[in-house]
Amino acid sequence: MTCSIGAITHDDNNVVVDAEKCNYCMECIPVCPTGSIDEWRVVNTAYTLEDQFGFEELPEQQDIDTGSSDEGGMDAAIAAMLDEAHSGAGGKARAPVSAAKPETNLYTAAKPVVATIQGSYRLTGEDSDSDVRHIILNFEGQPFPVLEGQNIGIIPPGSDDEGKPHLPRLYSVSSPRDGERPNYHNVSLTVKREAGGVCSNYLCDLKMGDKVNVTGPFGTTFLIPDDPEARLLMICTGTGSAPMRAFTMRRQRTVGAKSGGMTMFFGARTPDSLPYFGPLSKVPESLLKQHLVYSRVDGQPKEYVQDRMMQEEDEVAEILADPNTHIYICGLRGMEDGVERAFTNIAESIGQQWAALRDAMRDEGRYHVETY
Ligand code: A2P
Repeated sequence: MTCSIGAITHDDNNVVVDAEKCNYCMECIPVCPTGSIDEWRVVNTAYTLEDQFGFEELPEQQDIDTGSSDEGGMDAAIAAMLDEAHSGAGGKARAPVSAAKPETNLYTAAKPVVATIQGSYRLTGEDSDSDVRHIILNFEGQPFPVLEGQNIGIIPPGSDDEGKPHLPRLYSVSSPRDGERPNYHNVSLTVKREAGGVCSNYLCDLKMGDKVNVTGPFGTTFLIPDDPEARLLMICTGTGSAPMRAFTMRRQRTVGAKSGGMTMFFGARTPDSLPYFGPLSKVPESLLKQHLVYSRVDGQPKEYVQDRMMQEEDEVAEILADPNTHIYICGLRGMEDGVERAFTNIAESIGQQWAALRDAMRDEGRYHVETY
């Protein structure tokens, strides 16, 4: 019923998708009552409808890679990078119970997918000392199923000091699963130019039409719940806003202001250096309550996200006490301690022990940290 182009059919056993017709809009996934469409395989040749109707079980993912001997090592390196980024959760992170099932490792360093730069826009003011860009990648019909909160790898050209090809660098996607605009299936990144950074300078210098080697997608836990009642508390600094933008757009497109609600604490040096400052001002408070916090505004005291959380203690406490709340923290590693301290104080004010609450939330897939 959801599929406007009639790509989905079923018999008594199987719900199947006609790959000839499907445009990868993914609209069928959140509404599929059985979850059966929330499964796909990347193949060289699509399964026919007859094949699919015949399935008693899903076939294994075929190996579509060329098979580099280094690939296992590469996958392990990416997994280790992500584990490190998620370590601030204080234990093994889990996906939200209602999150869609993510695809991972479809493209590897040995067999990356080539994307084309569709746009690159500076997000921060020309006078700001921080050059953050919104970069849009177009996969031009090649499958790249990615969920909000996942990461992709970018392989900078050239080689490292030892003459080996560069390892992919991980970036969090800042677009929702169906693309910058619904059904465009492009993917955006939020990239800060770092002094001497091999990949950030490469990406920030790319022009429209340039090609880029992409791996991934990666990440199975830092995902948005599909449950519209879930309440999101998002805490971020700088480019840590990337997944929060994706979450907000996803919510805006699917459930709108009727959702469980979203609250964001977002820290930057100045308004001019806060990525997405302009677009954020147009997001209604009924969808996203925003606390924008600045550390380097002339004549104002330095303020960090954790300071504002403490100032808004009652609001945060009420959110913490809600069993529908999911917490997402993304940005500078340095923020972890301060945010933990704020949560400890706020939890105490409602008679809770933060460490216990955090561990329970994490085990229930409701506490997510990605820092670097
Ligand atoms: P600061 O002015 O101290 O650098 P960036 O622009 O480097 O991406 O940083 C984003 C924001 O995060 C800045 O406002 C920065 O403030 C702030 N920040 C830096 N360290 C911390 C920290 N330990 N906790 C919270 N915010 C921090």
